[in-house]
Amino acid sequence: MSKGDKKMKGIILSGGTATRLFPLTATTSKQLLPVYNKQMIFYPLNTLIKAGIKDILIIVTPEHSGQYMNLLGAEFKKYGIRIIFEVQKVPRGLADAFIMGEGFIGKDNVTMILGDNIFEDDFSEAIKNFQSGGHVFAKKVSDPERFGVVKFDETGNAVKIVEKPQEWISDYAVTGLYIYDNRVIEAAKNTKPSERGEIEITSLHNYYLERNELKVSTFDGEWLDAGTFDTLLEAGRIVKEKEIYKNFDPLIDAAVEEFNAELKALAKKRLL
Ligand code: DAU
Repeated sequence: MSKGDKKMKGIILSGGTATRLFPLTATTSKQLLPVYNKQMIFYPLNTLIKAGIKDILIIVTPEHSGQYMNLLGAEFKKYGIRIIFEVQKVPRGLADAFIMGEGFIGKDNVTMILGDNIFEDDFSEAIKNFQSGGHVFAKKVSDPERFGVVKFDETGNAVKIVEKPQEWISDYAVTGLYIYDNRVIEAAKNTKPSERGEIEITSLHNYYLERNELKVSTFDGEWLDAGTFDTLLEAGRIVKEKEIYKNFDPLIDAAVEEFNAELKALAKKRLL
């Protein structure tokens, strides 16, 4: 639980169309594709569970909701983790997660992570110590024009955040892990769609930045976003080489083992 009287809720945004990964995503969701020995979604799920978050909303596409339910719908509640699902019919933008999640978030704070973002680092301290405002995490990249980008001043304070800047402002991308207080729901509701027709998460960062209430931290470990054939392959390779797959919370390992045992028992039954 975060400090103060508010709990921390978790959202994994796991919808989208993932056309860049066709035909792989013609039959399943991008975030259910394998990254080394587990489905991609387990990595962001781990980031939340490691930080002690027990209430998690996973936002999924209508076509793949059954697959998510099969994979994650049963085992976790035995370990005190409540996972619920909501279907996003149209990808309206990242900020939509907080509008869809309004009832789920209630009066609490919320950490959102993108279902295709894999982090090597453990963000438990930042999530557990969060009190109010917003806290996001930036990483130096070679292709900042693909991301939300943050410019720092000489003292390391964030001064500007722009979604996919056409002109260079900085090499620091804002990654897909966001901690916000409860005001994010209202901020999301008041966000106007951008030129690409989406309600942008960057507008929410700016809501807090304008009020001097946005903390932007950098971090050292790997950040992988597995949205193309090359980055998907690379993600699996790095997860294996850097042994990121060994960082899972014991609770996730136990739930996955239980799931595997059930699958094996079912397979055996079918053979008899
Ligand atoms: O990866 C970090 C970047 O993610 C940030 O730096 C950007 O500020 C942020 O806008 C976002 O940029 P992308 O253009 O990469 O977002 P994308 O449309 O690829 O969506 C990210 C994930 O969220 C993707 O796995 C699909 C999912 N998604 C996306 C939208 C727009 C949804 O589930 N629902 C949506 O409505």
